[in-house]
Amino acid sequence: MDATKLGGRFTFPGTSRAVHRLGYGAMQLAGPGVWGPPRNPEEAVAVLREALAAGVNHLDTSDYYGPHITNQLIRQALHPYPEGLVLVTKLGAKRLPDQSWQPAITAAELTAGVHDNLRNLGLEALEIVNYRTMGSGHGPQEGSIAEQIAVLADLQRQGLIRHIGLSNVTAAQVAEAQAMVEVVCVQNLYNLACRADDALIDDLARQGIPYVPFFPLGGFTPLQSSILTEVAARLGATPMQVALAWLLHRSPNILLIPGTSSLAHLRENLAAAQLTLSPSVLAELDGVGTLARH
Ligand SMILES: NC(=O)c1ccc[n+]([C@@H]2O[C@H](COP(=O)([O-])OP(=O)(O)OC[C@H]3O[C@@H](n4cnc5c(N)ncnc54)[C@H](OP(=O)(O)O)[C@@H]3O)[C@@H](O)[C@H]2O)c1
Repeated sequence: MDATKLGGRFTFPGTSRAVHRLGYGAMQLAGPGVWGPPRNPEEAVAVLREALAAGVNHLDTSDYYGPHITNQLIRQALHPYPEGLVLVTKLGAKRLPDQSWQPAITAAELTAGVHDNLRNLGLEALEIVNYRTMGSGHGPQEGSIAEQIAVLADLQRQGLIRHIGLSNVTAAQVAEAQAMVEVVCVQNLYNLACRADDALIDDLARQGIPYVPFFPLGGFTPLQSSILTEVAARLGATPMQVALAWLLHRSPNILLIPGTSSLAHLRENLAAAQLTLSPSVLAELDGVGTLARH
């Protein structure tokens, strides 16, 4: 086994599930605005199949992407799922006909969300479910999440969910959930320019818990920075590859799920694992985060 393939491996705590650190996020597979069918359904299926063929075994999704469509594409492209694939989904939101994202956090809504995921993915149990708070949108907001975690714990006892993670949460919410269940991963907004979670990442690393940044490339407005462009040109890489490589260097518990609907971008992103960044380059790239804080 190549220990360095796709950034090496990391095991979700309390599980025997080791995944490559470079995974894939499926949100971009739905149509524009994460709504409706993809512009190019054949390419969407090809992206999923090529990701797995390249060794990706950590796939992030949600039934509210599309809604339902992203999960249905995953099932169409990959079912029956290969042994070793870790599918991570999330609950806590729903889409209304006006395409808005609204909270879905009652016991009935969370339970229905589990069944939607099971049906559309073609599974009898969900491997990892992140409870995703609405927070302030793409950032967390303090407030108890105990009621929702208790519902997920009950669904876990019923065997419908194997492991529980969190998304869009504060350190206090992580601690609150940890007092109730084993938290196997945390998925928050973080990238080269958005570094509010630096302390949380280090704390989770000490506990052996993966931190999975969403929007690792900047999300709907991909990262732009002259430092990033200059460094990439010097290394003969693309700015997006450097942004991903920086995350892999940032902490060993960071697992990546960059999203793309394009085969060319998928190949480019997976190749980022081969990029080594020297301490001086890392220091230079730290400047992007510093500039973004001012
Ligand atoms: N927990 C949460 O609240 C939450 C929120 C958002 C996302 N997520 C998860 O996190 C995953 C990653 O986030 P994301 O997909 O929104 O954002 P991202 O990974 O930061 O970036 C995706 C954007 O960058 C483009 N892109 C990808 N690779 C590129 C490349 N090599 N060169 C140029 N552009 C490139 C994509 O467009 P193309 O399709 O054109 O490549 C897309 O517009 C999602 O897929 C989803 O699974 C979770």
